[in-house]
Amino acid sequence: MPRLPSRLALATALVSAQLVSAAPLNGTDNRIPINVTSQERSHLLAEMRSFLQGLHNIFHALARNDMKAVAVEARPLGKVLHHMPPGMRERVPLAYVEMGWGLHEVFDVIARDAEAKADPTLTLGQLAEALSYCSGCHDTYRLQVVPARGTR
Ligand code: HEC
Repeated sequence: MPRLPSRLALATALVSAQLVSAAPLNGTDNRIPINVTSQERSHLLAEMRSFLQGLHNIFHALARNDMKAVAVEARPLGKVLHHMPPGMRERVPLAYVEMGWGLHEVFDVIARDAEAKADPTLTLGQLAEALSYCSGCHDTYRLQVVPARGTR
């Protein structure tokens, strides 16, 4: 997967100028806010929970050595962030979109390789890669709810 690390590197480079540090554990939050309506927030958080649920299912499938189930669980996760609410795409930073696309690609590759190669160790490495996108984005951005007309 030669393209994936470079995409993450690009996204990281794009935000490094603005980002002070990942949210420290002392109550301050230096992450970059993304303005969303409360409806958009609900939509995004529901998608996020589907990521966590999907990972949960993938790990169970891996533990059973059921690589077909890994592919079945990973495939829909490659499409989750495709449904960004209309009007939101132009409001979010490019690095955010890049991380979302990078994550799609990892899940697509996980699904494809689980089916074609059925190698749990390979899948584990790819899952670690997926988690670096989860962490990278969470360390960088937070959602900030604004009234519907003040989002642009
Ligand atoms: C492109 C950015 C991005 C990526 C990639 C991403 N997330 Fe998130 N996620 C967010 C943001 C932003 C929030 C809200 C954080 C906040 O406002 O404090 C969030 C919140 C969440 C939440 C909380 C949901 C809730 O109901 O409160 C979970 C769980 C979560 N993400 C899981 C994941 C997992 C698992 C992955 C990787 C498979 C992932 N996310 C990848 C941006 C991202």
